[in-house]
Amino acid sequence: MLDLLVTNASLPDGRAGMSVAVRDGRIAEVAEGLRAPAHEVLDAQGLLLAPHFCDPHFHMDATLSYGLPRVNQSGTLLEGIALWGELKPLLTADALVERALAYCDWAVARGLLAIRTHVDTSDPSLLAVEALLDVRRRVAPYLDLQLVAFPQDGVLRTPGGLDNLRRALDMGVDVVGGIPHFERTMAEGAASVRQLCELAAERGLPVDMHCDESDDPLSRHIETLAFETQRLGLHGRVTGSHCTSMHSMDNYYVSKLLPLIAQSRVHVVANPLINITLQGRHDSYPRRRGMTRVPELLAAGVNVAFGHDCVMDPWYSLGSGDMLEVAHMGLHVAQMTSQAGMRACFDAVTQHAARVMGLDGYGLAQGCDASFVLLQARDPIEALRLRATRMKVFRRGRLLAQTPAATAALHLPGRAEATSFMAPAC
Ligand code: FE2
Repeated sequence: MLDLLVTNASLPDGRAGMSVAVRDGRIAEVAEGLRAPAHEVLDAQGLLLAPHFCDPHFHMDATLSYGLPRVNQSGTLLEGIALWGELKPLLTADALVERALAYCDWAVARGLLAIRTHVDTSDPSLLAVEALLDVRRRVAPYLDLQLVAFPQDGVLRTPGGLDNLRRALDMGVDVVGGIPHFERTMAEGAASVRQLCELAAERGLPVDMHCDESDDPLSRHIETLAFETQRLGLHGRVTGSHCTSMHSMDNYYVSKLLPLIAQSRVHVVANPLINITLQGRHDSYPRRRGMTRVPELLAAGVNVAFGHDCVMDPWYSLGSGDMLEVAHMGLHVAQMTSQAGMRACFDAVTQHAARVMGLDGYGLAQGCDASFVLLQARDPIEALRLRATRMKVFRRGRLLAQTPAATAALHLPGRAEATSFMAPAC
């Protein structure tokens, strides 16, 4: 007897009329037209069943703090960092935990069940680290939360920065972070990459650095990150986040850089909503978009994912935990408008992001966790177009959230009463 049988589902790879059988929290079988006794049967009615969304880059210690203690007037990254510095002394563990838990509720409702969050380790009290470790424990029954030790003010630039970061790892933080472009000099940035990668190798941990988050074409720490990954044998365990300077780099240099990144199997995470908002702020016109070179990285064989980065915090006033909104923006900024390009943008917030996070049991295949989302769309492109309603969200076979289908009731003169959800009839 199955626990759950989803019938007549469309899958992201294009298969239609599929059944997904669930037993003991795992996918027991995926087959066309499968019928078997089950405690619960869910007719997907041809709609898209996708593995859950994953956010590989977020800042949960800052989320939902918009307006505290004031709003970012210039909208720049640097004012955001300064504003975060003003907020930090006012933070309490209770308020931080409350905001983080509220955000996790939003995430689950949007089918976002795995989040990698950076947590600031610059403050020697490590208050935010303790609070997010508490959040990780509390949400564990319904959401996978990974923590990155993130030295926001620079691991070498901050007195005691490396020691604080080490202590955060001792407390149970999962990933080594960094911010080389925010160190005092390029040389010190490169030294920070080397030291942090060595620390990760020593401890057997993954690395995820904010890397070259600027429009400076000579900010080339991604090169050092890829080199250190190779030198220390960290292939597949290292992520370069943002990498916005690549947008402005010389094309010849990038043609040499891309194979280095691919060979080191460094993952790249772009954050489209934030990159388009924060970059290009020193430009007049033409004004650069600032997002990294997503299609070129993908073509070079690099695993590229999209992150949300910020929701209602010192850097970004909007957002709601909706990874389809993130992918929708990424698609536009990178001009990935072909069918394959749009599907790759959907993958960037699902399977590519899961790969960045190293999630075991992710996917819609036999043996995977039964953690999936029924969307009010028939394929990934329609899901992106509509930022489709997440009608049902399951984790390990258990229903966590449901949202009624979005339909408009139409009362049009001269026409019969009708409903529409903005999709053409099949
Ligand atoms: Fe970030």
